[in-house]
Amino acid sequence: MIAEDPARTRMRELERIISQANDDYYLKDAPTISDAEYDRLFRELEKLESDFPDLASPTSPTTRVGTPMQTAVGPERASVDVPTSNTPFAPVKHREPMLSLANALDLAELREFGERVEKGLDGGNHALDYFVEHKFDGVSLEIVYENGTLAVASTRGDGFTGEDVTGNALTIRSIPKSLKKPLFSSCEIRGEVIFPLEAFLELNRNRVAAGEPPFANPRNAAAGSLRQLDSSVTKARPLEFFAYSLSSATGEVATNQGEMFQLLQELGFKTQPSAFIAAGLADVERSYEILLETRDQLPYEIDGLVVKLNSFAAQRKLGFRSRTPRWAVALKFPPREENTKLLSISVQVGRTGVLTPVAELEPVNIGGVVVKRATLHNEEEIERRGIMIGDTVIVRRQGDVIPAVVGVVPSLRTGSEVYFEMPKFCPICGTAVVRDAEEVAVRCPNGTCLAQIQERLLHLVARKAFDIDKLGEKLIEQLLSRGLVKDSADIFSLQKADLLTLDRMGEKSAENVIAAIEKGKQISLDRFIFAIGIRHVGERTAKDLAQAFGSLDAFLNATEESLHEIHEVGPRIAASILEFIANPEERAVISRMLERGVRVGSVTRPTSSGGIFAGSVVVLTGGLEKFSRDEAQAIIEREGGRVSGSVSKSTTLVVAGEGAGSKEKKARELGIEIIDEEEFLKRIEKGSSEDTVTAG
Ligand code: IVH
Repeated sequence: MIAEDPARTRMRELERIISQANDDYYLKDAPTISDAEYDRLFRELEKLESDFPDLASPTSPTTRVGTPMQTAVGPERASVDVPTSNTPFAPVKHREPMLSLANALDLAELREFGERVEKGLDGGNHALDYFVEHKFDGVSLEIVYENGTLAVASTRGDGFTGEDVTGNALTIRSIPKSLKKPLFSSCEIRGEVIFPLEAFLELNRNRVAAGEPPFANPRNAAAGSLRQLDSSVTKARPLEFFAYSLSSATGEVATNQGEMFQLLQELGFKTQPSAFIAAGLADVERSYEILLETRDQLPYEIDGLVVKLNSFAAQRKLGFRSRTPRWAVALKFPPREENTKLLSISVQVGRTGVLTPVAELEPVNIGGVVVKRATLHNEEEIERRGIMIGDTVIVRRQGDVIPAVVGVVPSLRTGSEVYFEMPKFCPICGTAVVRDAEEVAVRCPNGTCLAQIQERLLHLVARKAFDIDKLGEKLIEQLLSRGLVKDSADIFSLQKADLLTLDRMGEKSAENVIAAIEKGKQISLDRFIFAIGIRHVGERTAKDLAQAFGSLDAFLNATEESLHEIHEVGPRIAASILEFIANPEERAVISRMLERGVRVGSVTRPTSSGGIFAGSVVVLTGGLEKFSRDEAQAIIEREGGRVSGSVSKSTTLVVAGEGAGSKEKKARELGIEIIDEEEFLKRIEKGSSEDTVTAG
């Protein structure tokens, strides 16, 4: 332990730094330290306060709970708050305070938590049951139901009083307006509102293209979307709500977390699918280690696990500290954000010719991955954040995609930093760049610029487009440089002999590539629309367009009016589609693709009243020939069903493809209907004959 005087000095210093960081983060939306650094400083202050309780300041940032209330939309940062009273939302007093969770930053700290729990329960050395959930990186929400009907939804606020966001909460599809079972005359449900990762990335791409600042992270986007003054903005965002707790009234109906979770589902809430009961902390440790490896594959961001003592009786026995329960802990993952130096800025040319500045970084390990490059979005974003070459910047890794620079630390400048200027000429083909009047983006206008063609081809063969995984970056580079491929249609006339002229290409590999291309020629309309690379048309928009038009022909004949009718398509996207389909060169490429055997599949319009799989829970097992898993799932969902990964009593149908094994066996034992691919196909065709449009 250090002596008292230096401790006091350090404590005042930490209070100042943390308060400043809070202001920068919440009020200015310009973070100046990374989350990891923030956690470290917060921890250091907490430790000093526990070693020197007499020196602790009554207004220390460690004494606060919750998120700030302010007019500007602000992100949430657990456990700190700068409450002000100028929120545009009406205050809602929580019946019970919404508390925070103590953190365990590694497994050693988790074990310390376990020891404290065991000691508190005088339980000695037996394995206690813990309920384990993902720690969502979103915004907490409390919903009060009166006589089974949604009455008020509020944010956490300062933990005691939150903001009334009822109107916005009502637009979130996974929040039921009334409870499925009339169990309570009054109850509060708590849970997390999250912004799914892919939709978050698409939102940011669209915001950047429209000259709006991107959100720093999905949590920030969730908070921003929930705290909108206009509910229609919230409605347009694909927010989801996962419930994790039910008010104390539960005591009468459930005796532990597991039962409560079950109850939440019965009431009509979405709960996190992989939550489980661990027999002792060793079980928790194992799943933590697995999740560390796999968290990039989750459709939403999590920043750790929440570990709760399962038994309510045991929870009551342990009780609460001032702002956290003694019976739960947040086992955090290593952070996703770190500070590092911005060494230089290079410029990449994308598939639509947009020049993107890319940060070349001093390599930094972020949560186990060494990051050297990160996107800076565009020139305007660099200006807005005041980023200079040589600066210390905050870099954030999100899912599997390219990391982003989300902030800058101006206080660490040395004076040798320099401003960045966008080049006047395309770095690849040398053509003078243009700046569209309404766009912030700078573009290379040369459609035959090699960089653009290469990016377009990579997009064309990507997993969510034609899904020809045998055609990788290296291969495409070679095909282009040897003139074997000049545009997207050329991919579909490649012959084995062409491929054999390439470096390190043997008979077998060439055959595999050709087979992959052949297989890729069958494509659904939404994938096709996505694949052709229309500016501003992402995967989601492509799905909306496919659904609205039903056939490629109809889509290629879209008019301003017909596009206007599609709710999800704004004027910017519409203009870009019209420009694309009016372009004779683009149309010629599409015609040649079709001539060379590309078949754009039929699309089933969503049925308003249910669909052929309405209410079914379907398990897909074994290999399907005519569909990919994703396609089969999409059809089932469009037809009102749900796809599940495992066979259980709630399964209503199993589609068993080639080589189906244990799942089929289990289904047979449970007496569940089993059909093969042929029958599956028949049902789809039969079911959709009234409202199917065949595209061509
Ligand atoms: S339970 C007594 N479960 O983490 C507090 N919280 O640091 C009980 N969070 O405010 C909270 N996922 O916003 C709980 N599965 C989960 C969670 C979760 C995310 C958030 C929540 C809470 C914060 C606490």
